[in-house]
Amino acid sequence: MEIKVDLFSDTGTKPSQDMRRFMAEAEVGDEQLGEDPSVNRLCRMAAEMLGKDDAVYLPSGLMANQISFAVHTQPGDEVIMHETAHPIHYEGAALSVISGASIRTLGGEGGIFTAEDLKSAVRDDDYHSPQSSVVSIEQTTNLGGGRIWPLKRIKEIAEAAQEKNLKMHMDGARMLNAAAASGVNPLEYAQYFDSVWLDLSKGLGAPVGSVLAGSADFIEKARFWKQRLGGAMRQAGIIAAGGIFALEHNVSRLAEDHEHAKMLAKTIADQPGLEIDPEKVETNIVLFTAADGKSDLFADELLKKGIRVSRLEGMLRAVTHLDISREDIRYTVKTIEKTAKDIFS
Ligand SMILES: Cc1ncc(COP(=O)(O)O)c(C=O)c1O
Repeated sequence: MEIKVDLFSDTGTKPSQDMRRFMAEAEVGDEQLGEDPSVNRLCRMAAEMLGKDDAVYLPSGLMANQISFAVHTQPGDEVIMHETAHPIHYEGAALSVISGASIRTLGGEGGIFTAEDLKSAVRDDDYHSPQSSVVSIEQTTNLGGGRIWPLKRIKEIAEAAQEKNLKMHMDGARMLNAAAASGVNPLEYAQYFDSVWLDLSKGLGAPVGSVLAGSADFIEKARFWKQRLGGAMRQAGIIAAGGIFALEHNVSRLAEDHEHAKMLAKTIADQPGLEIDPEKVETNIVLFTAADGKSDLFADELLKKGIRVSRLEGMLRAVTHLDISREDIRYTVKTIEKTAKDIFS
């Protein structure tokens, strides 16, 4: 089956010809020794963008989450996050394996909880209980549907965290999507966090990597964990250059992906048999279902026509990104209309 429009995930973006050329010409050195000029440049760019002392280049976003938790916790601690958060569902229980920490989950619509929820989840200082030590938020929320944590809510969470002596961690896999959609500078979001990272390999279009930023002390400790987990690399500048290119060329265009997601959401909302609240589509993730338990059938029919969406926790998810053109969206809109008509009328 030829896939014409791949809305499975923004992780599927492929490096453009211009990005590949830039990568081929990258200056490289031994990254593990701190001597790769391209990696060092990428880390400076990210640290500056996020208003932190320093940053470290990592092979994945998962490693950025897990290194942050390893630095912020002791075995027996508890990390508080939303019940839909990525480390709970897709990181192979790494938090318990690597850090010996447990997770306390919070509810809340769209992957977003309140400061009151947080305060009531923090454990009393009691030897019967795990020690709450970190709160983690996902900007934007993935299983929550690409929702944006408002700056005001983040500030309230930060105040509660400070009161309860918790570290603040941001899984910023799609933080630049939040910034593009809300107009809030990434610096403003990042100021409230002890650790914050960006994924370069999603909508930004680089093939590999994330950058994790924080204070000088945090990054020094993060480097120990990077080495310990086998994340230190050698001539990594060749891939880091993809990240530099992405930050220089692919940030402002994220708005186009959000516009495409809204076009899909509106089409889906207009079809009898398909269920979505288009108001909740804020960035590049579109979550929807088909009535009468027909979500799988709907996804199968789209796939027959060359459109791939993912199936997550009983929902269908379409993610717009760099490799999805306006023409692809027009084709998807027409196909959704026809498929919904065929199935539901
Ligand atoms: C919210 C979130 N956090 C973390 C990750 C992990 O990133 P990576 O695939 O780069 O390890 C993902 C990947 O999809 C994600 O969506």
